[in-house]
Amino acid sequence: MTAAISINNVKKSYGSLDALKGVDLTINRGEFFGLLGPNGAGKSTLINIIAGLANADAGSVSVLGHDVVGDYRQARQALGVVPQELVFDAFFSVREVLKIQSGYFGLGKENDAWIDELLDALALTDKANVNMRALSGGMKRRVLIAQALVHKPEVVILDEPTAGVDVELRKLLWGFVEQLNQKGHTIVLTTHYLEEAEKLCDRIAILNHGEVIALDSKASLLQSEICNKLHLIIKTAEPIDQLPDALAPSIRDKVKYLDGCQMRLELHKDKDVIVDVLAAIAGAGIKVVDLETERADLEDVFVELTSKKVS
Ligand SMILES: Nc1ncnc2c1ncn2[C@@H]1O[C@H](COP(=O)(O)OP(=O)(O)OP(=O)(O)O)[C@@H](O)[C@H]1O
Ligand SMILES: [Mg+2]
Repeated sequence: MTAAISINNVKKSYGSLDALKGVDLTINRGEFFGLLGPNGAGKSTLINIIAGLANADAGSVSVLGHDVVGDYRQARQALGVVPQELVFDAFFSVREVLKIQSGYFGLGKENDAWIDELLDALALTDKANVNMRALSGGMKRRVLIAQALVHKPEVVILDEPTAGVDVELRKLLWGFVEQLNQKGHTIVLTTHYLEEAEKLCDRIAILNHGEVIALDSKASLLQSEICNKLHLIIKTAEPIDQLPDALAPSIRDKVKYLDGCQMRLELHKDKDVIVDVLAAIAGAGIKVVDLETERADLEDVFVELTSKKVS
């Protein structure tokens, strides 16, 4: 089957800065794909190349088999991109912006029903006739999303669509994007909210300094060694300056942090039994009044991987 997006050895430099150092990625049709990476990793550069807004110095990219340079129109037709930057024309109303965008793809009145559907899904109906400059940042972002979808592209790329968006709207957006994915659209998402990626994406690539440093299913990433850690945070009745001598060395080794009435232990999620650890702590005369556990998540995997590899 033709890939949704095929990226082959893509390189891009800005002067002496190698923003992309030979990126290879294949995104399958129907996938919900997460493209993650710290600031400056090269995500938007790669997206701009896919969208035909920037040219690669080397390598090639195709969307549904259409080369983004040689076959630009067809590639562009298959693709909807929500840019990271808020770019808009201040002189038009929301509906006008969407109608103009429809026109770029050769669509006229027959697209009006879909525009209404988009406005409704993105809670923009009551803003349809409002001028773009009179919208809040979050509303403008929603218009950008509607704009990217106006021609019903099979492949949708969202470059940090929830930056600066409130919690309620984020939920609305994700519900909407999930529905698109269920209808068969391929979704590529970049986000710095890793819990979003963890919830939504099937497969994840992590880009760092212009290179893909991880590419795997979310499930596999979450099974990596680092996710075996489990943090146990304990609140004690009395402040503790020093661990009591009576505390077994095996438990003592697990204490990573001790401050006032707070104690933080790093456990192994399968090998350590929380009840036994607590019993040992109580046995050493420490009175526990409250406790909390924290499991490693995608964010921990991300931090581990991106802090390891520095070029
Ligand atoms: N037009 C440009 N001219 C010069 N350098 C650029 C240009 N666009 C991007 N860069 C540089 O390329 C690198 C990658 O930038 P890019 O915007 O792709 O990162 P990003 O992964 O999208 O980061 P963020 O998470 O902050 O959006 C950065 O070092 C950036 O400064
Ligand atoms: Mg970016």
